[in-house]
Amino acid sequence: MNLTDRVAIVTGSGRGIGKAIALKLAEAGASVVVNDIDKMAEEVAREIRAMGKQSQSVMADVSSAPDVASLVETATTNYGRIDILVNNAGINRDQLLVRMSDEEWDKVINIDLKSVFLCTRAVLRPMIKQRWGRIISISSVVGLIGNAGQANYAAAKAGIIGFTRSVAREVASRGVTANAIAPGFIDTEMTQKLPESQRQELISRIPSGRLGSPEDVASAVCFLASEEAGYITGQVLTVDGGMT
Ligand SMILES: NC(=O)c1ccc[n+]([C@@H]2O[C@H](COP(=O)([O-])OP(=O)(O)OC[C@H]3O[C@@H](n4cnc5c(N)ncnc54)[C@H](O)[C@@H]3O)[C@@H](O)[C@H]2O)c1
Repeated sequence: MNLTDRVAIVTGSGRGIGKAIALKLAEAGASVVVNDIDKMAEEVAREIRAMGKQSQSVMADVSSAPDVASLVETATTNYGRIDILVNNAGINRDQLLVRMSDEEWDKVINIDLKSVFLCTRAVLRPMIKQRWGRIISISSVVGLIGNAGQANYAAAKAGIIGFTRSVAREVASRGVTANAIAPGFIDTEMTQKLPESQRQELISRIPSGRLGSPEDVASAVCFLASEEAGYITGQVLTVDGGMT
């Protein structure tokens, strides 16, 4: 995939899947704005600059409208345009529903779903104006099939899918595509927290016989961000080793 001259924002890209996405987009030639709520973002931006590509970090909370406004403004001021938005930032606060607090519900909905609305809304006008744009949001297989103990997370991830399909319909005629990726179980800090017995049980349910890697997800993002994927919109691409 050739993304030379493209400018990308990747939210939550200080580590894990987001970091792999930022590095792969940069490898393909894009200038990348690395966002995270944590200062790790700067390390990733430095790594990209060491590859000889352009990158800048912006520490911002993507569930806050003023933070999102300054993220998008920094990207536009520095690079003059935004072509690719990857909504990747996400958290989980797992709890059986009967014990789930309002705070656990609200936090996950705000960071995993409201952020997708805020960031997409903020980049859409310039993308429509330039008649080219790619919105790629990281959902989850949990948003498709549900998971006990993750009602908040499943609601947010399923919400991303409905949101994506609606935005795709709104902007398809303007050269802007909106797609979601639904990863299965990917080997990152999110899944490394699980006890080994639970990891093995998960692996036994995956036909490919392994957890996914962050790079498996990043490759799918790169494809959807490319010129070649211009006729694909409103889709959910599952990257789960055949699990669902
Ligand atoms: N790991 C998996 O198995 C898996 C599976 C399906 C979907 N996903 C999704 O992929 C995405 C990345 O997951 P990961 O496994 O790399 O997780 P991770 O916890 O390793 O990374 C998430 C990143 O998002 C950042 N972040 C959190 N809140 C933020 C905020 N408010 N603003 C900006 N950044 C924020 C964190 O600091 C962190 O760097 C998430 O949306 C997650 O739900 C992960």
